[in-house]
Amino acid sequence: MPESAQQQSYGVMFVCLGNICRSPLAEGRFRYHVEQAGLSDRFHIGSSGTGAWHAGNPPDPRSIAVAAKYATDISQQRAQQVQSNDFLVFDRLVAMDLSNLKNLQKVEPADAKAKLQVLLGNQKEVPDPYYGGDNGFETVFAMVDKGTKQLLADIRAEMGW
Ligand code: 4NP
Repeated sequence: MPESAQQQSYGVMFVCLGNICRSPLAEGRFRYHVEQAGLSDRFHIGSSGTGAWHAGNPPDPRSIAVAAKYATDISQQRAQQVQSNDFLVFDRLVAMDLSNLKNLQKVEPADAKAKLQVLLGNQKEVPDPYYGGDNGFETVFAMVDKGTKQLLADIRAEMGW
């Protein structure tokens, strides 16, 4: 493999609406799986929201709590709104639901490199848990855990890692 290819880092950004509930969990859990696989050097990983309301804020305490239960620390992450540059810097922008995907498509620049997808496929959305109880966060965590594990397997197959 040429040196330039060896140094290439694969970028994955998870996207939801507010970047305080679902995508911070997906970012943290994908990073967890990447670390478990010993592949941290090969990735740059982030998350964002299509909305800007919570920019600069830490994740929702319920997301921090459910992640901590599974040895995943997301407490230092801060919310940000997706930027057009993210479409150039990341290889995949991974939406939590179809509405997030639609919003991404609306702001996608013409020279985008990122592949847009929904974490669990177009038939299965990660539901917004913001207005529900703590139980919703357990459900979301389980979906995100499974989805990010599969995503890593897909990328490893694609990249031959
Ligand atoms: P998220 O959940 O998209 O999973 O971060 C939400 C959090 C806040 C709002 C919407 C969704 N909000 O409208 O403030």
